[in-house]
Amino acid sequence: MVDMRVNLCGIDMDNPVMAASGTFGFGHEFAELYDINILGSFSFKGTTLEPRFGNPTPRIAECESGLINSIGLQNPGVNEVIDNELPKLAEVFNKPVMANIGGSSVEDYAMTAKALSSCKQIGWLEINVSCPNVNHGGMAFGTDPAVVQEVTEAVKANTEKPVIIKLSPNVTDITAIARACENGGADGVSLVNTMLGMRINLKTGKPVIANKMGGFSGPAIFPVALRMVYQVYEAVGLPIVGIGGIAKAEQVIEMMMAGATAVQIGAANLVNPYACRDIVNDLPKIMDKYGISSLSEIIGGAH
Ligand code: FUM
Repeated sequence: MVDMRVNLCGIDMDNPVMAASGTFGFGHEFAELYDINILGSFSFKGTTLEPRFGNPTPRIAECESGLINSIGLQNPGVNEVIDNELPKLAEVFNKPVMANIGGSSVEDYAMTAKALSSCKQIGWLEINVSCPNVNHGGMAFGTDPAVVQEVTEAVKANTEKPVIIKLSPNVTDITAIARACENGGADGVSLVNTMLGMRINLKTGKPVIANKMGGFSGPAIFPVALRMVYQVYEAVGLPIVGIGGIAKAEQVIEMMMAGATAVQIGAANLVNPYACRDIVNDLPKIMDKYGISSLSEIIGGAH
């Protein structure tokens, strides 16, 4: 019997596999397909203080080994999430869930965090300072260490839940941003969000995506994400959630050896809605293959 349990920021998880925000709705949608309690957890759709309609369409561009999205943080707003989405989730999911929070100002992040902190089912807050698809906040916040620290401090002052800051790969030195999170009192970091990219439609000669550019994710970014997790593990003492192009159990193990305590699966859910379930089911066999008896013992093992 292999041991897949990990502990992320003080919360025990049956396994390290989570679905990434923006690829798994509010969970209950996927519960129509399979029992989502097989997951370690998941991060729900990025939630802001007020409802957001999102960006103009087209918002998606397919690529050879991934896709570009420019959704624009479409979501029903924090009150609707608390009043309607979380009660529906409670009917199908009996584990702590991660709340992903977006914002246009430091106050937005702090107030949304405060509102969600009263929800018992929420285990962690994941603060998205890395969305490349909004004009205010998002990635503009996450690429400046001073602002990242300010957002972190503001959220920490408004919650008792563990705070995990979600980092952008669109920076020269991700370790400087991770250190700002640590200085601001973050409990963990998750990385990476999407890489800024674009496609051009040869028929129109114009960008495919209405907003011109968007966030690139999928198998192609795995080596970049892995490298950044490895670097951040050496730079700070915070638990890391590894994200970026993971599509199979072997890559979960690679991410954990680089330094991740848990992982998030994103784009793979859009190709195969059973991807997370399949990865959880495959993990014991891959652990056996490489002689791994306990996943928590391999965290950072590549250093
Ligand atoms: O456009 C979006 O909603 C994407 C969000 C993100 O990548 O954080």
